[in-house]
Amino acid sequence: MSPFLGGSRGSRVDDYNTEATDVYSAAATESLLWPFPNDEQKAAACTENEVTSDADRITGLYQRHAHDWARDRGNHLFEKPMLDRFLALLPASSPILDVGCGSADPIGRYFIERGYDVTGVDSSIGGILAWDSFFHLCPEDQREMFPVFSKHAAPKAVLMFTSGPAYGEAIGTYRGEPLYHGSLDGSEYRSLLAENGFQVVSRLTEDPTDGGHAEWLAQFA
Ligand SMILES: C[S@@+](CC[C@H](N)C(=O)[O-])C[C@H]1O[C@@H](n2cnc3c(N)ncnc32)[C@H](O)[C@@H]1O
Repeated sequence: MSPFLGGSRGSRVDDYNTEATDVYSAAATESLLWPFPNDEQKAAACTENEVTSDADRITGLYQRHAHDWARDRGNHLFEKPMLDRFLALLPASSPILDVGCGSADPIGRYFIERGYDVTGVDSSIGGILAWDSFFHLCPEDQREMFPVFSKHAAPKAVLMFTSGPAYGEAIGTYRGEPLYHGSLDGSEYRSLLAENGFQVVSRLTEDPTDGGHAEWLAQFA
């Protein structure tokens, strides 16, 4: 066992289950801990550009090694004492956003099993759904989302969203309050999808059974 792992996770016996420290592979241990740089790395870390480029590479690294990471991490919940402290401060069933959730097992699963409504986001996303929500963004904000989808899409990621039938804005009402809708033109959605690496799988326009939606289904190359 790494001395650092023992120190950080095993020595506070009041808080941590020391058995948990045995379940990590060396590879996971390496990546779970905040690293102590060697002299060479310290020198590199002084160069802002080096650090920035390593930071820029992090999402690609996790995408390339997603399966390895999930296997190396395992599903032992060594974080349970801290997660319980976190939950103790939350109202029951509160929504939780798990940022950088990985496979969401075991942490997301633990929250869900306790009745919390968990949304996980990670850099490598296989399915992106913006159903009847994307059209509440104004056209300018919608345009900005396609590079974001692309940046976080895993290979072959599927994107599905709904838009209006053509470029424009429309204000409906919901319970007496104005309800904003915005849409780009179909040709602009097609261009944005293509420019950002998505192929259109299907598009249904103004389906009469579906309240005039345009439904877009696309797949990342
Ligand atoms: C060490 S893993 C931790 C996974 C999970 N939270 C756990 O503890 O089991 C780090 C996670 O952060 C994600 N990540 C790193 N940079 C990210 C970014 N810029 N946006 C979203 N997720 C990111 C990685 O894809 C990876 O799944």
